[in-house]
Amino acid sequence: MVRISAPGKVHLIGEHAVVYGEPAILAAVGLRMSVEAEKSDSIRVTGSKIHNDIEWDVQETKEFAKNIEKLWEESDRTKDFSKLFSRVKGGIFKKAIIGTALNEFGIDSGITLNMQSDIPTSSGLGSSSAVAAIIIKAIADAYGISALLEKVNEITYKCEQYVHGNPSGGDNTAVVHGGIVWFERNLDGGANRIETLQREIPHKLHGFVLAYIKRPEKSTGELVSMVRETDPSVRDPAIKAIGEAARKMRSALRERDSEKIKSLINTAWENLRIFGLSVPEADDLIAKIRESGGAAKLCGACGGGMMLAYHENPETIKNIIKEAGFSPMEVELGVEGIRKE
Ligand code: MEV
Repeated sequence: MVRISAPGKVHLIGEHAVVYGEPAILAAVGLRMSVEAEKSDSIRVTGSKIHNDIEWDVQETKEFAKNIEKLWEESDRTKDFSKLFSRVKGGIFKKAIIGTALNEFGIDSGITLNMQSDIPTSSGLGSSSAVAAIIIKAIADAYGISALLEKVNEITYKCEQYVHGNPSGGDNTAVVHGGIVWFERNLDGGANRIETLQREIPHKLHGFVLAYIKRPEKSTGELVSMVRETDPSVRDPAIKAIGEAARKMRSALRERDSEKIKSLINTAWENLRIFGLSVPEADDLIAKIRESGGAAKLCGACGGGMMLAYHENPETIKNIIKEAGFSPMEVELGVEGIRKE
């Protein structure tokens, strides 16, 4: 039996703009998802919080994954992912991941997977990347295939496309590599720019607090499409402003300049709000956090999910979050990426 785990991720800055080639800074968070895997004749998935135990036939699952790949290609051509998104949901996403991994590694047999997770779904914490990454690595390891992290990341990205359409690749990279990651998507299809910032930012990131606001009504793919469909005269300057804030954030984090960190988070959020990515509950809470001298924004695709708040004295914002009826979480940032347990 093999046991693999991966962390969730949080965007310190740069979500959405990263889809358009602007930089993002992501940190792997100290909430993990894990899987125990064993070779088998069929495919069996147990332990999920979002669906009952499931069993599939190996050949049918491999065929299913090929069809999903075709459907993605067709959706990408027509720029309409609605059919794909309505097909690849919940447990079916795992079927697509398993089939894709078996096809990629040339395996003609099955796998038994027992899942466990501390990463809330639909929260902006990269749970879809984490689930894909651990299943792919677990299948490779169970069959004695030594897959490089780059290969695991590449297949994870392919699976991310099935639920998010045309994602940047930042989420899967942070989850697989871990630490603090500078990510810039290559829009011409070449290699993305990925830098791990541990050496540059060796100190613990202090003062960041998470709070779950509410379940987003739209999926990541739908929220990304919403930004894409915004009039370019409004969209493009906002995307550029977020990218500029992300560039400045790198030195602010390095220099532990809390005033600058706060002002950059607030700038990024003001620009994300332009796209209608907030919800009233977040607006009220973020206003209170800002009044207290802190900064906050929603994370990932936004539209609800997790809020990331920052204050040099985190107790101040933890109290505000509690008074507003939410639960503050101080999680470790920059943790190890995917690993064998
Ligand atoms: C989702 O976690 C982050 C987005 O920037 C989409 C992406 O990077 O693919 C909204």
